[in-house]
Amino acid sequence: MNQTLARKAGLVSRRGGFVLALALTAAGHAAPTTAADSIAVSVDPSKAGPKIDRNLFGQFAEHLGHGVYEGVWVGPDSAIPNTRGIRNDVVAALRALKVPNVRWPGGCFADEYHWRKGVSPQRAVTLNPNWGGVTEPNAFGTHEFMDFMAQIGSEAYVSVNVGSGTPQEAAEWLEYLTAAQPTTLAKERAANGHPAPYKVAYLGIGNESWDCGGNMTPEHYLSQLKAYSRFVRNFNPAQQPDPQRMLKIAVGPGGDGPRWTEWTDTVMKAWQGRSWSWDFDGLSMHNYTVVKWPPSYKSTGFGEAEYAQILESTLEMDRLIATHSAIMDKYDPQKKVALVVDEWGAWYAPLSGSNPGFLVQQNSLRDAVLAALNVNIFARHADRVRMANIAQMVNVLQAMILTDEEKMVLTPTYHVFKMYVPFQDATFVPVSFDAGTYTHGNVTLPRLDAIAARDTAGKLWLAVTNLDPDRSAAVEATLAGITPKSAAGETLTAPRVDSVNTFEAPDTVVPKPIVARVQGATLALTLEPKSVTVISVEQ
Ligand code: AHR
Repeated sequence: MNQTLARKAGLVSRRGGFVLALALTAAGHAAPTTAADSIAVSVDPSKAGPKIDRNLFGQFAEHLGHGVYEGVWVGPDSAIPNTRGIRNDVVAALRALKVPNVRWPGGCFADEYHWRKGVSPQRAVTLNPNWGGVTEPNAFGTHEFMDFMAQIGSEAYVSVNVGSGTPQEAAEWLEYLTAAQPTTLAKERAANGHPAPYKVAYLGIGNESWDCGGNMTPEHYLSQLKAYSRFVRNFNPAQQPDPQRMLKIAVGPGGDGPRWTEWTDTVMKAWQGRSWSWDFDGLSMHNYTVVKWPPSYKSTGFGEAEYAQILESTLEMDRLIATHSAIMDKYDPQKKVALVVDEWGAWYAPLSGSNPGFLVQQNSLRDAVLAALNVNIFARHADRVRMANIAQMVNVLQAMILTDEEKMVLTPTYHVFKMYVPFQDATFVPVSFDAGTYTHGNVTLPRLDAIAARDTAGKLWLAVTNLDPDRSAAVEATLAGITPKSAAGETLTAPRVDSVNTFEAPDTVVPKPIVARVQGATLALTLEPKSVTVISVEQ
């Protein structure tokens, strides 16, 4: 941030020096100053870690509630501004996130999806038994999804139907999508408006095949996986060598405990003994922050107890990744197979008055903190975790965006994803700090979390989350071997842990500028309580 911008934001003193304006809350009130004891953070940019794959910031769009219909697709005849039926406001918001990939069409929906119903000029109306039993118009099908990918500048992660489909059905879908030669299916694609082959970057072979995807044993799933892996190809020769190659993702674990470790062990052991005729590149893992089933925590109108309990639960992600990574290491010490956390996020009780099958929830400052903590965990495991998809993109679960007819609002989680854009494909840089503790009732959490990275242009970035909702945190960051000239960025907080953005008040939880004080080789920052901060360093 330059001095003019900083002055506008009220961050520059009359004498021109940077002030600790960060001790102001988002609402402009003085933050509690009592316990701003200093926390030392050491960043060592000389020690480069793994790449933080941009795919860690992937999204998930299932045919579920208003996630696709209304959230993305309004149809070309809608009064809501759209391009070929896809809403322009949502596209613009997602473009700003540089969404690397979108998983579609499910979820549980994928294992009941039959692609042919969504490509012909006359679309079949079917049912969506998983999600409210509503009708599925199939108006948003293959071409509409690929158009959506082109409009937001993202890659397709297509989940094929293993539960109620066949390898033949899935292979024909991929031929329809990717064949460059004039096969009958490629000609049908051309007749339906797209002569050029599409690119499918990622292929999901089933979804939760241990449960909604067919309740299979790991052995039964493996026999399916081998057939799908062999026959469901990218048929375009130009997209077969690296780095164009379509990556295949197998169904992996859905949680903690022997059932899931056995699943990972069985599938990875088979992978180690694979033959030339089948393979996969990623193992999926699903883990929601829910505390207990059925989801009963409220997404708004909650207090500090629920804030602390949900964050405690979300931090379990680290142990889960470590557990399954350790099993993968046994069979794949070179880490060729990625752990793909392709469903994660908070799952709360449905909003009152909404269809419970539509998984509608609000999104609060707590979710912003939760998102930052999870992304930090993924980054710390970036050597193994190379893809993740938050559930879900629009109007469902921990969404980026909420819509209501022509209205749209960006959620606190959206803002965290936007603040973290510079971490996409950045190189992990080790950070050490004494996190301290934040305690509420019988929950004790780290008070602070932080990651650092160098972006593709070489700039250093630091992301720091202050979990404590009551105490600001004075951070003193030293950057080994670097004398910073300045450091600035954005910070996200709000008056309450359950503050939300609404259509009427969309700016309650939005990022504000923040500037660090440079003290020799040290950067000094005062982080507001319950805040997420991302800064870059000029050197
Ligand atoms: O995201 C909602 C559902 O959660 C998905 O359809 C399913 O895969 C998971 O159980």
